[in-house]
Amino acid sequence: MNPELSITRFWNPVRITFGPGSLASLPDLFRELPGRRVTLITGQAIMRELGILDRIRTLLYDRDLAVYEGVESNPQIIQAQEAVDFARKNGAEAILGFGGGSALDTAKVVAATVTNGGEVLPLLTKERSLTAPSLPTVMAPTTAGTGSEVTRWATLWELEVKKKHSLEGPGMYPTHALLDPELTRTLPPYFAATTGMDALSHAMEAYWNRNANPVSDAHALEAVRRISEVLPLVVREPDNLEYRTRMLLAALLAGLAFSNTKTAAAHSLSYPMTLHYGVVHGQASSITLPALLEFNAEADRARMIQLAKALGGASVESGARRLQVLLQRVGLKTTLAELGIDEAGIALCVREGYTPDRAGHNLRDLDAAGMREVLERIRK
Ligand SMILES: [Fe+2]
Repeated sequence: MNPELSITRFWNPVRITFGPGSLASLPDLFRELPGRRVTLITGQAIMRELGILDRIRTLLYDRDLAVYEGVESNPQIIQAQEAVDFARKNGAEAILGFGGGSALDTAKVVAATVTNGGEVLPLLTKERSLTAPSLPTVMAPTTAGTGSEVTRWATLWELEVKKKHSLEGPGMYPTHALLDPELTRTLPPYFAATTGMDALSHAMEAYWNRNANPVSDAHALEAVRRISEVLPLVVREPDNLEYRTRMLLAALLAGLAFSNTKTAAAHSLSYPMTLHYGVVHGQASSITLPALLEFNAEADRARMIQLAKALGGASVESGARRLQVLLQRVGLKTTLAELGIDEAGIALCVREGYTPDRAGHNLRDLDAAGMREVLERIRK
């Protein structure tokens, strides 16, 4: 039956403010939130590069603003705990997350841990569950992107023991997402490429997903169409505000799509690549996309043709080829060999690449043989 004729549910409560210059709305957004004491969670490099901390201080002159600048990429539990302690010490009543996915995810973990009490670790290991809604939050991404500004989960890492953790709950949706494309303008082309391809992965994973519904589908297809068009332009002309704006909007659409479906096989397979080979998230989460488009066509060719069309192709095979060309055009790798992942690495990815809450959503059943098939397609 046509899924559009059945009852489906899509829910996303995040209030979205979008557009160049919209950072100026920050005071209005905080005026809608209770409390005066705001903790800003961010990474030092971003603040330095953008020279933006003073601007935020000026905009929020009537709040008590405490600034935590210690977030690094692939944020670790110990760092998130430090940020929680900092927020508690400053009596945080609201949180401002500012930066890429790592800063926003850390900010979301802080907002959840402060209201739920205790430490970060037992929440991540599910020893304790989230019962209270998070502190009110404003999330301002500086990459396009993570989608974290419109999702209800956050990812943290324990790199020394090669583990990844997620914290998730309906109370973790940000209150406000503030998307100002001006903030993405200084993002260097390589990071624009990795974060942009991650957004493409979010959109495609939302579409070849067992949780997909007609509303997430519409967001996903539109995001795929827009990202495949504009991302090479952003990489070629990083300072072009129109391209940056189109890309940030496309990443937002991808975020909305997977906020209701979660990710699937590409993300599941990416985690061992990041943990054991240090592959940047967006490279790891997008390298398998061409192979997965063909793999998933065995389960539902008509759906994969829709994705291929959004990529500008007429068939699954031409869609997969276009994806490979897109990866190359934006400067990313298309084979595991280029990432230094050899036979032993492939075996490792097969062994550790099945996260039930990701791979279990994939349209086509994914077992060890399936994961090997996908990885073999991009071996070299
Ligand atoms: Fe991702």
